[in-house]
Amino acid sequence: MSKVVAVTGASSGIGEAAALRLAADGHHVVLGARREDRLTSVAEKIRAAGGSADVRRLDVTDRHDTAAFVDAAVNAHGRIDVVVNNAGVMPLSPLSALLVDDWDRMIDVNVRGLLHGIAAALPHFQRQGSGHFVTVASIAAHAVSPTAAVYSATKHAAWAISEGLRQEADPSIRVTTISPGVVESELAETITDPATQARIATYRANTIPAGAIADAIAYAIAQPADVDVNEIVIRPARQR
Ligand SMILES: NC(=O)c1ccc[n+]([C@@H]2O[C@H](COP(=O)([O-])OP(=O)(O)OC[C@H]3O[C@@H](n4cnc5c(N)ncnc54)[C@H](OP(=O)(O)O)[C@@H]3O)[C@@H](O)[C@H]2O)c1
Repeated sequence: MSKVVAVTGASSGIGEAAALRLAADGHHVVLGARREDRLTSVAEKIRAAGGSADVRRLDVTDRHDTAAFVDAAVNAHGRIDVVVNNAGVMPLSPLSALLVDDWDRMIDVNVRGLLHGIAAALPHFQRQGSGHFVTVASIAAHAVSPTAAVYSATKHAAWAISEGLRQEADPSIRVTTISPGVVESELAETITDPATQARIATYRANTIPAGAIADAIAYAIAQPADVDVNEIVIRPARQR
């Protein structure tokens, strides 16, 4: 069945791959992120392949903007079936570097942005009597490593929020948390600390394509309404 799927952070990496995959599966995708030019070229690729996509500039740190993003999808299509809360940043650094603005950015995008996505869609899901939240967390939701204290904290929070939502929500609303390992994307470009930037290339030497995560998202969405895929952890076979 064709669904209306909103994807945050659809301008690159996992969000872009998810949008392409879900559109190829016949879903209508609504793409949100700040770089509208990149969203437009993803939508053009989707349409060229015979798929259907809308684009809307979105900053998930803005609660009203996130609500307007989801409302626009409902106004255009009469419903919203899935929200993929994927937008995220990862400006890693040791706490001692005191990059407090980077800490704030991670909290604002990775935690507040997720909450804004939930607040925007939950009333529609409740009114419709159906809906599916997909949270893109991380293996950093399950482990902590040096330079990743704040990033891991935001991903632990994303995991906890999604699990809490799953427990509270009516069974007509499904909740899936996807926890990727190291995936090819632009994520490491958000690192501002030069020493961490230099080290991260080694850590990220073995990646898997963003399409591997898109496949997992597509799998969760494709299950029957009474099957709730709660969590998938996917990492490169070489990653420990
Ligand atoms: N790649 C990995 O190894 C990996 C591993 C585990 C988890 N993840 C998670 O996967 C998700 C996607 O990351 P990625 O790896 O695909 O990296 P990416 O290529 O950098 O994509 C991040 C996306 O988030 C968007 N974004 C950032 N700030 C935003 C904001 N304020 N409002 C709206 N969109 C915003 C970016 O778009 P704009 O800049 O255009 O706004 C971009 O589309 C993140 O939550 C990340 O934590 C990634």
